[in-house]
Amino acid sequence: TTSGASAAEIEKGNYRHFMQKEIFEQPTVVAQTLRSYLRPVEQQVALPQIDFDISAIDRVTIVACGTSYYAGLVAKYWFERFARVPVDIDYASEFRYRDPVLQPGGLALFISQSGETADTLAALRHCKANGQTIAVVVNVPTSSMAREADLLLPTHAGPEIGVASTKAFTCQLAVLAALAAHFAVKKGQMSREEEAAIVHHLMEVPASLNEALSHDAEIAAMAHLIAPARDVLYLGRGPDYPLALEGALKLKEISYIHAEGYASGEMKHGPIALIDEAVPVIVLAPSGPLFEKTVSNMEEVRARGGKIVLISDAEGLAEAGEGCMATIEMPKVHPLIAPLVYAVPVQLLAYHTACVKGTDVDQPRNLAKSVTVE
Ligand code: G6P
Repeated sequence: TTSGASAAEIEKGNYRHFMQKEIFEQPTVVAQTLRSYLRPVEQQVALPQIDFDISAIDRVTIVACGTSYYAGLVAKYWFERFARVPVDIDYASEFRYRDPVLQPGGLALFISQSGETADTLAALRHCKANGQTIAVVVNVPTSSMAREADLLLPTHAGPEIGVASTKAFTCQLAVLAALAAHFAVKKGQMSREEEAAIVHHLMEVPASLNEALSHDAEIAAMAHLIAPARDVLYLGRGPDYPLALEGALKLKEISYIHAEGYASGEMKHGPIALIDEAVPVIVLAPSGPLFEKTVSNMEEVRARGGKIVLISDAEGLAEAGEGCMATIEMPKVHPLIAPLVYAVPVQLLAYHTACVKGTDVDQPRNLAKSVTVE
């Protein structure tokens, strides 16, 4: 081995793979990230100095690729819910060639672990040339995107080595939740009490991540049920719909099993045709106002002999866990915060399934950590 490789081995510590290490670092790095965006004592969000009038912004355009794009989809939900600001979101590779309508006074928000993804950087420059204020959420503070931003919002995930993004994603979500709340306060859409409540819920996330991680051994056992599948379906609703997309992406990236993420209510418009006993359906559904809807989607799967893995809290599992092939219990968290916590089981399920299949977890075939070509 080269000296570089042996240094890397040391950094892996007791973990088998960087991806595994990075999944387990999440309580620490999310806490670290939240510390620079929240003032727990004052129960307020605290953003870096912003030298433009954020309350005047009436439209947000989010652009990103891959896992960072899914963080953006969750953020769209938060921006609209909290701040009542309309959000447009697109893949960078689509955005830059579709001649988007950019009105003056808009905020363009770019999300990227590396800060170097070629399509995202080109989209940033296009927005800058078209009079948009540029905000970036990046993990590499010296990156091109960081340098070209009007507002730099760093994630403090530390270096991410595994090609499949994990801890950068949850740290992006932490920053985006704080940004959405800040936006809402500045727009007069969020009261002091509501802000305090959000800060409180976010402060609980690291402990909830730890609790989610405590199911590692169970999920490792469950991976043996997923590994033989040729196709896997992930379902989620609302802010958990992007998590279904992320779960499917993680699984296909590192285990090479074909997986698709769908909005739970869309299943009957197509993917239900695929359902049989050979296609596991992973349902991400915290209990809450939309839970009943998802339960009826699960009935549709079951009626066709489908096998369900339900990821929910104790309340949800008590109601709908019976008859599932497997269940994973998540801590009860505020529904809007759930995506941060439900990221863990989908990452672990992909990770352990890849281990069962014996694929190269940290260096999956055909994929690169940072795509700096178009
Ligand atoms: C590559 C990586 C993904 C990542 C995507 C976007 O495809 O394999 O894990 O999500 O690029 O990268 P970025 O650095 O812009 O977040």
